[in-house]
Order: sequence, then C-alpha cells, then structure tokens
Amino acid sequence: MAIAVTVFIAILFFVLFLLIPEPHEKKDSSAPLIQGRAYPSTLSSTDLFHMACSQCHNLPPLTHRDREEWRILVLKMNRKMMQTGKQYLSPEQVDPLIDYIVSQQKSF
Ligand code: HEC
Repeated sequence: MAIAVTVFIAILFFVLFLLIPEPHEKKDSSAPLIQGRAYPSTLSSTDLFHMACSQCHNLPPLTHRDREEWRILVLKMNRKMMQTGKQYLSPEQVDPLIDYIVSQQKSF
C-alpha cells in the first residue's frame, strides 16, 4: 500500500513537473531595432565620415582595405550605430561614404 502511494505521488509530481511552463525570453516585439535616426541627406561624405565614424571611437586610419572590405566594414559599423541608438547612415549615404574613404586612402 505504502509503495503504491509513493509511486502515485511520484507520478503526480512528474506530471506536475511536465506542466511547468517553459521560461520564455521576454521579447518586446514592439521595440524597434532602429532606435536612433539617420543623418540628414544634405551632409557631405566628408562630414558623414567625421560625424558618424567618431561616435564610438577615434577615426580609423584609412589604409589596408580594398573597396569591398571597406564596404563590409561600413555596413557592419552602420549596423552597430542602429543597434546602439546612435545616428546612422541612410542607405543612400553608404556608397558615397565608401567612395570618400577609398579616395582618401593612402595607396597600399
Ligand atoms: C556604434 C559605435 C561605432 C560607430 C559609430 C563606428 N564604429 Fe567602428 N568600431 C566599433 C567597435 C565596437 C569596433 C571594434 C569591434 C569590431 O571590430 O567589431 C570598431 C572597429 C572599427 C575598426 C577596426 C576594425 C578591424 O577589423 O580592425 C574600423 C576600421 C572602424 N571601426 C571603422 C569605422 C568607420 C569607418 C565608421 C563610420 C562608418 C565607424 N567605425 C563607426 C564601433 C563603432
């Protein structure tokens, strides 16, 4: 008898355990990924480089990268700007900024 009660209670706890809801990551789907805002389209690429790229660190030396590598880097940096709520480059500003960087780059 005692063993039956023990087994019953064990099963009961097992079932209750299965009923515990999974912890859910609290995701606020209403929170926008992009918190900041884009720079105005009137700014030149020179201004954009000096303003946007100095928000988190000193301006990088313009060396060592070909155009494709700069493109990947600028897109990565722009993603950081968006994710951290900084002012970021609008899609139309990305290519001219890369052109500017490549034109300023010391030959390598
Ligand atoms: C939101 C902050 C932020 C902004 C704005 C930002 N960066 Fe960065 N940057 C970082 C961080 C963090 C790192 C180091 C980590 C990494 O490389 O991901 C970094 C690293 C770099 C590096 C070194 C990468 C390497 O691989 O050696 C370069 C070059 C660079 N940034 C260029 C830029 C340029 C150009 C801009 C403007 C388009 C810019 N950054 C704007 C945060 C930022």
